[in-house]
Amino acid sequence: MSVLRVCELADLAPDSAKLVVVNGLKLSVVRIEEDVFVIGDTCSHANFSLSEGEVDVQDKTLECTKHGAAFSLENGEPQCLPATKPVPVYDVEVREGTIYISQAELASGQTSGDSA
Ligand code: FES
Repeated sequence: MSVLRVCELADLAPDSAKLVVVNGLKLSVVRIEEDVFVIGDTCSHANFSLSEGEVDVQDKTLECTKHGAAFSLENGEPQCLPATKPVPVYDVEVREGTIYISQAELASGQTSGDSA
């Protein structure tokens, strides 16, 4: 399975989210100690950038600054209202300091189903 490069591990400040655009897809990339999480950057509540929000390192969530919904970095599920739908979560691989996500995960994270 092919993978897509997201960014360098060194580009990520600890315990915060960074917006990275890969092939037109907006991603929130979060580093907590040695763990890296990649979720969709667009809040499922009202189309706001999650990477502007705060990371909760204990709960492993990213909070939307617009209305306060917090999303699990592990499964994308909202942990509180007002969001009720999950955001996409991507399989992450870190190789020699570079972060990748798999192409299959990319496709399943998008709402348009058909692949050519
Ligand atoms: S836009 Fe994110 S909680 Fe409303």
